[in-house]
Amino acid sequence: MVESVTADSLPSVGDVVELDIADQAYGPDSVARLNGIAVFVPDTAPGDRVRARITEVHKRYLRARVVSILRESSKRVPYNCPIAHQCGGCQWQYLAYDEQLRAKERAVRDALVRIGGWADPDVRAIIASPREWRYRNKARYWVETAGDQRRIGYYARSGDAVVPIETCPLNMDGVDTTLTTVGRLIASETHRDVAESLESVIARESLGSGEKAVRLILRREVPVRAFAEALMREVPALVGVTYNRAGRNAMRRDRVVVGSGTLTEYVGALEYRVSVDSFFQINPFATPLLVDVVREAAALDGVESVLEAYGGVGLSGVALAERASRVTLVEADRSAANDARRIFSKRGIDSATVYERSVDDMGDLPGGVDVIVCDPPRQGAGRDGIAALNRHGAYRLVYVACDPTALARDSAILRDAGWNLHWARPIDLFPQTYHVETVALFERR
Ligand SMILES: C[S@@+](CC[C@H](N)C(=O)[O-])C[C@H]1O[C@@H](n2cnc3c(N)ncnc32)[C@H](O)[C@@H]1O
Repeated sequence: MVESVTADSLPSVGDVVELDIADQAYGPDSVARLNGIAVFVPDTAPGDRVRARITEVHKRYLRARVVSILRESSKRVPYNCPIAHQCGGCQWQYLAYDEQLRAKERAVRDALVRIGGWADPDVRAIIASPREWRYRNKARYWVETAGDQRRIGYYARSGDAVVPIETCPLNMDGVDTTLTTVGRLIASETHRDVAESLESVIARESLGSGEKAVRLILRREVPVRAFAEALMREVPALVGVTYNRAGRNAMRRDRVVVGSGTLTEYVGALEYRVSVDSFFQINPFATPLLVDVVREAAALDGVESVLEAYGGVGLSGVALAERASRVTLVEADRSAANDARRIFSKRGIDSATVYERSVDDMGDLPGGVDVIVCDPPRQGAGRDGIAALNRHGAYRLVYVACDPTALARDSAILRDAGWNLHWARPIDLFPQTYHVETVALFERR
């Protein structure tokens, strides 16, 4: 047993050490210190004392895996899923929900300080998800076939095997039962061809309407109609089945096999008719809270012109339209941009214009922009995105981020471009995982 090390005498891979877990990192691991060197250990909670085997040695940090827990932290709760240790789906099940919230709030603050370079950012209290379990309206399971064995589930935490899932406690019930039905059907000989060509299956369920949909992602095209019809018979409230091709061969839009390719979603009283291949927030219990914070940050008086960048189907734009003189939405995905056009039009929002294009290349837009709502994908807007947004002369920018690190990076670019961070508010859209959404308000100096 190695009890202590210095930078010059690092332990080796395979050594077993005793560690006191100090902090929850932003990610799947917690952090302990071994003579000042950070050791990242998954499946541990701050306050645990563990015996752990070193799995990786780097100059500035180590990684280790728990061999045994010597003293359990009071922040631990029992696992809620028998395959939590193998499955890569969620990482923080063992942490009490209060502790998850604290760790996420701290992660947002730390990122803004360390990466963003803001000395003392006003990070407001995190908003909890109204549901800690069974909140996901969408899940993608991967399909693995080996001989006569067919598995459907998430990828394992390590390696690339699929961990078969009977039920996932994060999924809404309808998502879960739909995927179980898919799993049962592809296990039968009747649908062998479909099973062998399936890369993955995505199930969606709308909380507001109860409608469900299935997307089949195929490695090679085979007839899927009989399979889709069987699903329609077996899954209550399934509105349709669509398919697309995997990877580089993906088509810009899904093709409908049977039924409809759209779901009706609700956020409070607002209705969004969404194509099954368009992005929509995955925690419908917390999405109305997110929209409330965006409304608060945008602080519209009814006269402002709003640019919704990375707008998806117009989640924020629709919610803000009644207090704006004009809404311009920019979205790269054809399916989402088309949905946004239809949604604005159905709500009679004549002042809205939708551009199907990349934010990076959006160029000049007609009319001025007062307030920007920017909700980029995980990697953030980056230099090009922010440069494109910055040229429109807006005085307020509401940044909605699903990764605090990307938010922090972009916040530093914004500061250099003349923006101040006023406040940031984390919202927990993803309980049991380390992921956290943040709304950050920037104003031009
Ligand atoms: C996190 S989602 C946000 C969507 C929407 N704001 C919402 O909350 O429903 C990010 C969106 O950005 C779109 N997107 C990704 N890269 C883009 C780009 N370079 N320009 C414009 N839109 C992009 C994606 O298609 C997706 O709809």
